[in-house]
Amino acid sequence: MMLLLAVLCVLYVWSPATLIGGQGSSTNIIPRKKVPRSSNGGHLFREEGVWNYTTMLLREDLNVLILGARETIFALDLDDITVRKAMVNWPVTEQKQKECSIKGKDATNDCKNYVRILHKRDDDRMYVCGTNAFSPTCVYMSYVSGELKLDNKQEDGKGKCPFDPFQRYASEMVDGALYSATSLNFLGSDPVMMRSTDEIVRTDFTRTWLNEPNFVHMAHIPEGDSSPEGDDDKIYLFFSETAVEYDSFSKVDVSRIARVCKGDMGGLRTLQKKWTSFLKARLDCPFLKINLPLLVQDVFQLCQDDWTTCIFYAVFTLQLDSSEYSAVCAYKIEDIKMVFSKSKFKTPVTVETSFVKWVMYSGEVPDPRPGACIDNHAREKSINKSLDLPDKTLQFIRDKPLMDQAVKAIGQRPLLVKTGIAFTRIVVATATALNGSSHQVMFIGTKNGSVLKAVNYEGEMVIMEEIQLFEPSQPIKILRLSNTKQKLYVGSEVGVVQLSISECGRYHTCLDCVLARDPYCGWDLKEGQCSTINSIHRTRISTVIQSLSDGDTSRCPPIGGSKPVNIWFIHGNSVKLWCQPYSNLAQVHWKVNGKLIRPSDTFQILSDSLMILNASAEASGYYTCSSVERKYEAQHVAYDLQMWSGSGTAASIHDVKEKENTLVAMVVILSLILATLVIWNLYKGYLPLPCCHSRVKDMANRNVDESFSASQAQQHKVASPTVNLNSNNNYANNQRYSISRETDRLSTTVGSSGQISVRYRDDESEI
Ligand SMILES: *[C@@H]1O[C@H](CO)[C@@H](O)[C@H](O)[C@H]1NC(C)=O
Ligand SMILES: *[C@@H]1O[C@H](CO)[C@@H](O)[C@H](O)[C@H]1NC(C)=O
Ligand SMILES: *[C@@H]1O[C@H](CO)[C@@H](O)[C@H](O)[C@H]1NC(C)=O
Ligand SMILES: *[C@@H]1O[C@H](CO)[C@@H](O)[C@H](O)[C@H]1NC(C)=O
Ligand SMILES: *[C@@H]1O[C@H](CO)[C@@H](O)[C@H](O)[C@H]1NC(C)=O
Repeated sequence: MMLLLAVLCVLYVWSPATLIGGQGSSTNIIPRKKVPRSSNGGHLFREEGVWNYTTMLLREDLNVLILGARETIFALDLDDITVRKAMVNWPVTEQKQKECSIKGKDATNDCKNYVRILHKRDDDRMYVCGTNAFSPTCVYMSYVSGELKLDNKQEDGKGKCPFDPFQRYASEMVDGALYSATSLNFLGSDPVMMRSTDEIVRTDFTRTWLNEPNFVHMAHIPEGDSSPEGDDDKIYLFFSETAVEYDSFSKVDVSRIARVCKGDMGGLRTLQKKWTSFLKARLDCPFLKINLPLLVQDVFQLCQDDWTTCIFYAVFTLQLDSSEYSAVCAYKIEDIKMVFSKSKFKTPVTVETSFVKWVMYSGEVPDPRPGACIDNHAREKSINKSLDLPDKTLQFIRDKPLMDQAVKAIGQRPLLVKTGIAFTRIVVATATALNGSSHQVMFIGTKNGSVLKAVNYEGEMVIMEEIQLFEPSQPIKILRLSNTKQKLYVGSEVGVVQLSISECGRYHTCLDCVLARDPYCGWDLKEGQCSTINSIHRTRISTVIQSLSDGDTSRCPPIGGSKPVNIWFIHGNSVKLWCQPYSNLAQVHWKVNGKLIRPSDTFQILSDSLMILNASAEASGYYTCSSVERKYEAQHVAYDLQMWSGSGTAASIHDVKEKENTLVAMVVILSLILATLVIWNLYKGYLPLPCCHSRVKDMANRNVDESFSASQAQQHKVASPTVNLNSNNNYANNQRYSISRETDRLSTTVGSSGQISVRYRDDESEI
């Protein structure tokens, strides 16, 4: 049991950040903040009885998010996805469902219609495909006068959309033609990449082209718009497949990038209605410790200006499920183009009579170069279309589509590596910093249902936040970015969440704001808050603090009124002093009378507090808690701890002791009331508790710790202002605001007969 009396007002110390020297940590991949689900704004969409919200099409032109789920398609308001503007059902027929289950599939789960493909067409209609109980089907859809309508006429979806809803696929719509990569048959064993126009062009059915692939992403690069060589647009395909180039008797998978030319019409005799331009190369995301290739899971294409600036960001995971290991690598389009246009080819050779290995081909390569698009060089030779290509070129490419060189990541290393979590999806946004420089901010979906927000500053990786979106955790299955709305849309099997790409309000102090190194945010000295950087800020940079490369907080204003919290304790009891840094990267330092506290029998240093066990007279003193992040130390809170030695008030103390039975809670309502009584009594008339009023704003800027649940608040009423002085980030500000309001109320309405002499210090000079 213990008794602690605490002064009501929240007083905390902010010394200006001090430089304590030393090196900042260079590649810390711990997310600086964990943002719990409760604080992401609550924009969650889910419809009763509908699951699998894993297909999306952004229609910024119509201000809707088209969302494909199981047997249902929604149109949601892009500004607030909880607003459902329209919805259309697309169920399987009973007949189809029966056929599907007769073939051995699970009627309630597999034999449904999972919407898998959603593309905008030039005529404003949309093209939609669903698995339709293992009988893929496509249909046109329109969104007119607030209604989603499916055409009556349905098309065969074989080769466009997977049969199996659990199989991955990729697709892209280019000039009204659907390019797709999926399985062509019920068993899912015939992979294909094809273009669906009147004349279908597709990959050859040979393992040389696609070897048990897992398709991930497709991207159109409009190279034809500006190519000095008269080259054509390309459609790139990212996937993983069984490798052929390793000396391994066990199956090894490898990541690949393949591409075809938009104008490819197939060959005349050889490769009739097959791609003449299908080339593939290994996609490397190297990491020293790992011998097995990493497997690509998702790709995002970021182009700043024309196609030559395009960069593909890809997330990778390890191919063994046993250890979770993830990485992000980035690839320049020019490097990719170079491999396909200049690399040597690989060719199969038989070693030891049965084993086939692919090695570099050093023989003669026909002209035009196999797999090249029709460009000026070909046209000079009077080859105007792929149908004109010579057999020699076509035979070569049919047998040897694999490049000898691999596509290398920028810097030949990952931008980000993380263990203990599997990355599933990625999008990348460009942020313009205060000084006008651009930064690529990665948003990475994980298997654990969170999104990581990360930036790479010249090789140094910073994960600003880990935002938990689905609880219980659900793998992130789709991520979409709207640059015009500055929002993210995140889908899983159970629902969709909308996020803002910047939430500067989550950083409550100048230090927190600047140390976060979030390129979207800066500390506005005029407003005294962490603001989203806009063009006005850029015209007055001297009044905004942002320090992305160093997190230099030296310009942060000192917050005045450094006052310790007064705490009284009873001999032999335990005392808990709270202090929670804003950041997972900060180290907490506790000092008593200026001396660093080391853990001992008396002192326990916990992540959010200091426990003083069996406190004796020696425990009295001036305690400070500071956190050190990078090279900056900031004092968060100070306590003036004194042993209670009153005598005439034993009865009151006993009252309190009887009511108090939470060992670790530092303050209980009665102690507060007692303190209030005293203060009220002693200072009635000449001490109107000024700090409580003047600090409401400060307090509103702080946050209430997660552990300080609403129920605790109820139980102990006012207990918390002193308890959770420096609670961590992220939570509802107004809670604390209301607590301090409550405090005010109590201080003026409770008590008239305080007996305990508690000294209330309001004057700094007394400290
Ligand atoms: C659809 O969602 C349900 C519920 O989460 C899940 O059990 C099922 O596996 C999902 N189906 C597919 C094809 O992902
Ligand atoms: C290719 O086009 C050029 C000019 O457009 C034409 O002169 C030539 O005959 C064409 N060649 C073939 C093989 O069609
Ligand atoms: C993610 O989930 C896995 C297993 O579900 C767990 O082992 C791991 O610690 C989690 N990682 C994080 C960062 O929460
Ligand atoms: C802006 O700041 C970044 C990092 O803080 C720095 O690398 C860059 O050189 C600066 N750019 C300009 C134009 O000052
Ligand atoms: C508390 O400290 C006193 C001496 O200050 C000691 O006699 C006593 O045994 C301690 N009690 C516990 C429970 O450790």
